[in-house]
Amino acid sequence: MGFVAKLCMFLLGYQCSFDLHTSLVTHHAKLKGVRWLLSERTDSWGWGTRKEAEAVMALQLVNDKWYRPSKPGPAATVKEMNLDLLAAISKYPKLDTQDWYGGKLGQYVNALVATCQDPSDFYGHNLIDILSGHMDGFPKYYFNHNFAYSWAVLALCNAGLTVQEKYIQQLTKTPGNYTFGVDEAAMTVIALSCVRNQTDVKSAISAGVQFILDNKKPDGSFGNEYTTGLAVQALIADDKQTRRKIKKEALLRLVEKQGQDGSYDSVAAANQIFPALNRKSYADIGSISSCQQVTTTPAPTTPPASFFTFRINVIATLAPHNVNESFTVTVPDGSSLLDAMVVLRDTDSNFTFTSKESSFGTSISSIQGIASDPDARTYWRSAVAPDTALTTSVDGFFPTAGMTVIFSLSTY
Ligand SMILES: *[C@@H]1O[C@H](CO)[C@@H](O)[C@H](O)[C@H]1NC(C)=O
Ligand SMILES: *[C@@H]1O[C@H](CO)[C@@H](O)[C@H](O)[C@H]1NC(C)=O
Ligand SMILES: *[C@@H]1O[C@H](CO)[C@@H](O)[C@H](O)[C@H]1NC(C)=O
Ligand SMILES: *[C@@H]1O[C@H](CO)[C@@H](O)[C@H](O)[C@H]1NC(C)=O
Repeated sequence: MGFVAKLCMFLLGYQCSFDLHTSLVTHHAKLKGVRWLLSERTDSWGWGTRKEAEAVMALQLVNDKWYRPSKPGPAATVKEMNLDLLAAISKYPKLDTQDWYGGKLGQYVNALVATCQDPSDFYGHNLIDILSGHMDGFPKYYFNHNFAYSWAVLALCNAGLTVQEKYIQQLTKTPGNYTFGVDEAAMTVIALSCVRNQTDVKSAISAGVQFILDNKKPDGSFGNEYTTGLAVQALIADDKQTRRKIKKEALLRLVEKQGQDGSYDSVAAANQIFPALNRKSYADIGSISSCQQVTTTPAPTTPPASFFTFRINVIATLAPHNVNESFTVTVPDGSSLLDAMVVLRDTDSNFTFTSKESSFGTSISSIQGIASDPDARTYWRSAVAPDTALTTSVDGFFPTAGMTVIFSLSTY
């Protein structure tokens, strides 16, 4: 029995359905992939010149809270990305070199947006103006096909700008004609899906989607893993709800291509694959939720109805510990206990925990800095108040409104 089949048996007591099976496999692939990508960083916390934006986008589209200015590792990495770009601007203020065409500048603008930075005021430089200049000069250098042009349109759209009609028309004027096949069709669909609320691009999107579907391989992929990742992103960008089976088969092919250590071929491959594994596309960069607080509309004072609140109590009274603390957490409906603990850790500096993945789900290693200890035979027991022990791991348990979950340091 494979890992996922075992996990399903453990959590649910029966073999998983195709849907659940796929979500578990892709979830696992995501976690492994992120670990691999982060481990690929060099001593300077990045991946090397002009690769930073692709890696950062991939990480933010898998977990949009990965980057926060207060987290040292991610902050160092984003700083490295910014330096990469700043170094280039200081040499070539218009970035008018081959290196920055071919979609590269578009990728960097997208990565800045993905990390809640303003591309129109990047250390005093207006990258939107520079990018628009490149678009007005199209075609030039490698910036001579719609694959690259789509990155530019996505950058403007994700930055929250109204994209000028003339820019959109470059992507709609020859529907169905893609010099670079599925890759170009997919990037075009993703970019157009970002602007579809401001102008009617339905028929160009349909032509792109049809081209992608016509090129599906018998094994469910769309070519190599780069192409397959982009194709799934395009289908997701077009419509999250439909063609589920086609997307799932392609995702399973992507999971098969992953190395034991979570690796893919390159940072560029991760950039195309990770968002798809997380049912996201590049068109979602503009709505990364951890960046949304910068809007000027006041935050609602009461949480919307699709959220619920419950309590987490932490009790460690085994000597030498003396902890008895209670936390309130509000999370979206459908959140697992693990999701809620992550939210709490991100929002309340008084709550910390660490966890690890094991073959039967996520287990708690420490809470409030107190680690379970096999030598002392201690572990973090979880229960619903007053005292009903959980029978699943924290990622498989779904709390309900008003509930109290108790973590107590216990012995066995
Ligand atoms: C397809 O696109 C290529 C490259 O942009 C162009 O040279 C060619 O004329 C186009 N073909 C049609 C039928 O539009
Ligand atoms: C586009 O319009 C749809 C339907 O009107 C809406 O649900 C969606 O949030 C809009 N997207 C953007 C990015 O404004
Ligand atoms: C923890 O504190 C609460 C109230 O602050 C109290 O009712 C409860 O008995 C305490 N639990 C332990 C194990 O000390
Ligand atoms: C953390 O605990 C301290 C001391 O109990 C309290 O003053 C502070 O408000 C707490 N912080 C948060 C974010 O709740």
